[in-house]
Amino acid sequence: MRRYTRKHHSSLILLAVISIAAASAIVVFKVSKGLSWHYLASPWTWTSSLGGPFSSRHAIDKRKEKAKEYINLERIWNDESVKRRGKHRDGSLEMVEADLAKARALIRDASLNPSNRSTLELPDSDYVPQGNIYSNPHAFHRSYLLMEKMFKIFVYEEGEPPLFHYGSCKDIYSMEGLFMSLMEQDTRYRTWDPNEAHVYFLPFSVVMILKHLFDPIIRDKAVMERTVVDYVGIISNKYPFWNRSIGVDHFMLSCHDWGPRATWYVKELYYNSIRVLCNANTSEYFNPKKDASFPEINLVTGEITNLTAHLTPSNRSILAFFAGNLYHGKIRALVFKHWKGKDNGIQIYEKLPVGVSYSEMMKKSRFCLCPSGHEVASPRIVEAIYAECVPVIISQNYVLPFSDVLRWESFSIQIAVSEIANLKKILMGISEERYDRMVENVRKVQNHFLVNDPPKRYDVFNMIIHSVWLRRLNVRIYS
Ligand SMILES: *[C@@H]1O[C@H](CO)[C@@H](O)[C@H](O)[C@H]1NC(C)=O
Ligand SMILES: *[C@@H]1O[C@H](CO)[C@@H](O)[C@H](O)[C@H]1NC(C)=O
Ligand SMILES: *[C@@H]1O[C@H](CO)[C@@H](O)[C@H](O)[C@H]1NC(C)=O
Ligand SMILES: *[C@@H]1O[C@H](CO)[C@@H](O)[C@H](O)[C@H]1NC(C)=O
Ligand SMILES: *[C@@H]1O[C@H](CO)[C@@H](O)[C@H](O)[C@H]1NC(C)=O
Repeated sequence: MRRYTRKHHSSLILLAVISIAAASAIVVFKVSKGLSWHYLASPWTWTSSLGGPFSSRHAIDKRKEKAKEYINLERIWNDESVKRRGKHRDGSLEMVEADLAKARALIRDASLNPSNRSTLELPDSDYVPQGNIYSNPHAFHRSYLLMEKMFKIFVYEEGEPPLFHYGSCKDIYSMEGLFMSLMEQDTRYRTWDPNEAHVYFLPFSVVMILKHLFDPIIRDKAVMERTVVDYVGIISNKYPFWNRSIGVDHFMLSCHDWGPRATWYVKELYYNSIRVLCNANTSEYFNPKKDASFPEINLVTGEITNLTAHLTPSNRSILAFFAGNLYHGKIRALVFKHWKGKDNGIQIYEKLPVGVSYSEMMKKSRFCLCPSGHEVASPRIVEAIYAECVPVIISQNYVLPFSDVLRWESFSIQIAVSEIANLKKILMGISEERYDRMVENVRKVQNHFLVNDPPKRYDVFNMIIHSVWLRRLNVRIYS
């Protein structure tokens, strides 16, 4: 099996200056490996802005206009050189791919013909996604049910806790540890037969690697490099799956600020694999077509009960609220400069006065400000959703969690950094009617951000799995 040559390295790195360009570069390279991309569920194709949702052909035509070298599915199918390359048939891969092809067709059908009886009559005992919080509730529902029925994840057993198969379930990076441990227990999607898997999970915890191996005085970042490079080396030598797809059907997950960096040391992991990250910064080459964004949830004590309060309709007397460190990136500094102590309606604190509770303040506010800090993700977004306070997201280059499925504009406000000075005007301009609808939608999406152990249908764990499922559906691997 080929490795990347040096030439590929440098051209990829150069092109990666613009993430879109990087995506097409990978695609071109992968075509020569016998892979094709469907792009059926990326944020840009699942909305109607690019024509029919799920119309992968259409999306590809669009992209072809931008990048001449972009692939055309038909050409790959008929390309003799690709066919000949499949020397020995890989029967299990063909079966996996046939399943995925069936799923794609069904999802596309649900998306294009929502009134088709077979879509309307999908059995679901406890929840049917509907309403404008979803880009396409029918497609999502069909896709979710298919995921439950079919999706199989193989977790490599190599690696010992605490660096592997384990993580901390407390504090700001809790979702990383929670996912690891739920993945260990939750058998719904797990398979112990790697031949029937659709995706392969690399269960290393960036938080744990840094906690145990990173010396804050010596600051040798190579510990992360050694661990990740060794791990991929082990699984790619022992099993055929990594080499077979050059990592495309493998995923890692990290909530740590250094999550993206941890993948940098293995170029296939960085450019090909599905990276599930809290720190979903497109300026750091986060590529929403193959990578997935998941929410940062600050579980202060690790307790997951009573995360949401059932609020009686109260009078939210504060227009907008924020509490947090000022010295935490440029965006925060701007928020403080324009609004701290300037207006009674907009309450900005570095430290809350004694006796004032953070969560009570959120419950008394109409809008909760969620500016990016050192990293694009902010735990305040989910805190606001829990408190039924409409999140005001102030960030740049941030791909919001589950934005392939959820319409964030239906339950949050996004304000450009250049508009921070107009914050009050913008918030005051939102009609009472629109505000009420947004609060109602915030309540509706809460479910998708809740942590449960064991997981419950449509909760945050299942939504993360669904994000991985969609990205796997985006690509076809030839044997
Ligand atoms: C309705 O859905 C079924 C199953 O997905 C499909 O076989 C059928 O062709 C669809 N009918 C129409 C009119 O699209
Ligand atoms: C995968 O490729 C690497 C590098 O070419 C090679 O060392 C390794 O043996 C291959 N793994 C398998 C299982 O063939
Ligand atoms: C959750 O909240 C309810 C109602 O306030 C309370 O009765 C219950 O004890 C709380 N549970 C936990 C585990 O804190
Ligand atoms: C809400 O406002 C009304 C009228 O201003 C007031 O009578 C009521 O006590 C307030 N309720 C709460 C929970 O603050
Ligand atoms: C996103 O990444 C870019 C490039 O590394 C960086 O300059 C920017 O600060 C990041 N954004 C945040 C909020 O960290």
